[in-house]
Amino acid sequence: MQRNIMTSTQKANYWYKAAPVEAFSENGGACVQYKGIQIAVFHFKATDEWYASQNMCPHKMQMVLSRGLIGDACGEPKVACPLHKRTFSLTTGQNLNGEEYSIQVYPVKVEDGYVYIGVE
Ligand code: FES
Repeated sequence: MQRNIMTSTQKANYWYKAAPVEAFSENGGACVQYKGIQIAVFHFKATDEWYASQNMCPHKMQMVLSRGLIGDACGEPKVACPLHKRTFSLTTGQNLNGEEYSIQVYPVKVEDGYVYIGVE
């Protein structure tokens, strides 16, 4: 059965067709490129929710967030950078360590077996 899943209420000007669902690991992240921008895509298998954010960690400007550990903080989906464990909300991009820098997040939808990322 085909399922259409929208995991964000954010609107998008354009939906970038990133890749088939099978191309992404379950309970983990993967990196895709859109117009030279690296975007980290995360799939939470247990809830079948998808999130996307910039791949660059703003702490040391490293392209690593797609390799981060995903989880939740009081129900808030998050990713922890694999380098120094700064943690970011995947719904708002807020730095959950209380530091000033945050990350850009993108809406994601799954349609007809493909993952789409909402971009400007
Ligand atoms: S580079 Fe991500 S926490 Fe340092």
